[in-house]
Amino acid sequence: MNLNIALLPGDGIGPEVLDQAVKCLQAVEETFNHNFTYKEASVGAIAIDKTGTPLPKKTLDLCKNADAVLFGAIGDPKYDNNPTVKVRPEQGLLQLRKELGLYTNIRPVKVFSTLIEKSPLKEEIITNTDFTIYRELTGGIYFGEKKVNESGTIASDLCEYSEKEISRIAHMAFKASKNRNNKLTLVDKANVLESSRLWRRVVSKIGESYPEVLLEFLFVDNAAMQIILNPSQFDVILTENMFGDIISDESSVIGGSIGLLPSASIGDERALFEPIHGSYPQATGKNIANPIASILSAAMLLEHFGLFEEAMSVREAVDKSLRKGVVTSDLDETSKYGTDHVGDFIADNIVDNPDDFNM
Ligand code: IPM
Ligand code: MN
Repeated sequence: MNLNIALLPGDGIGPEVLDQAVKCLQAVEETFNHNFTYKEASVGAIAIDKTGTPLPKKTLDLCKNADAVLFGAIGDPKYDNNPTVKVRPEQGLLQLRKELGLYTNIRPVKVFSTLIEKSPLKEEIITNTDFTIYRELTGGIYFGEKKVNESGTIASDLCEYSEKEISRIAHMAFKASKNRNNKLTLVDKANVLESSRLWRRVVSKIGESYPEVLLEFLFVDNAAMQIILNPSQFDVILTENMFGDIISDESSVIGGSIGLLPSASIGDERALFEPIHGSYPQATGKNIANPIASILSAAMLLEHFGLFEEAMSVREAVDKSLRKGVVTSDLDETSKYGTDHVGDFIADNIVDNPDDFNM
């Protein structure tokens, strides 16, 4: 297969982890005889430094002309505690999601059996955790009207949703549930928010066309608690933009490191793949960041194009690195392996017929 992939390394550890994902894709090309081309462009703080804008037109055009986008990370602390800045790196990613129409963000949460003891939660709580968050990505409070009064003493962000925005992601989430364990949990705040009540109405109606899927509703505060108390109860979680942002970081704790969680952002025409973690500025350039979230994002890219065996071989190679302890220091404080070494190990272990588990 020929694929034209746009690479957006972004800020902080983004370039380091993205390099490892590309190594793995190149190993897949060689092993399975594909032909991927890669074109790189800047986004985020680094793009602001170079061009004054976090999403230069050149970058957006490259993404629009690519089959898929592989994204590193975004954000720089120099913007975080400065409320007066007008242009922020994050706007680059938000604008990109909007411009590419990536309304569904898929974030799988799974516990690797080899990492059970890395979790701060008890083994009996986290065993069998395997759920996927469907986070709405181009609407809600992230994109609603923002206002600040003249004296800068009152500010507001509007959380608005339309039936159309809810139903297109709801169908994707119901379909995903059908292919998994037939359970869908809508997370909202319908006891307080009108927009959440619209979500409930729309999702309940759509649920009638998926009678095999058990539909449940959970208020977001309760959901935050349930995710930590009993994560294995979940199969597919459907939620709006900001709730999804918050509960996905929370969920990453279950598996022991946020450095493990990939995501896919899908629209009707385009797709982008990125780790859920941020730019981890303290680790930048130190070769210590965990590349697995980025590598698993590349695996999701392969699956998106129907390259299931290829994706499986990447996953098996990741499993092997975890089994053999070829991991970064977030997973083992005594580890002597850096980001690039872990990437090399995983890329080298991408094979057509993955080794059996005893190798
Ligand atoms: C994420 C990130 C982004 C978000 C930021 C960087 C804008 O936290 O992808 O989860 O809030 O969506
Ligand atoms: Mn986030």
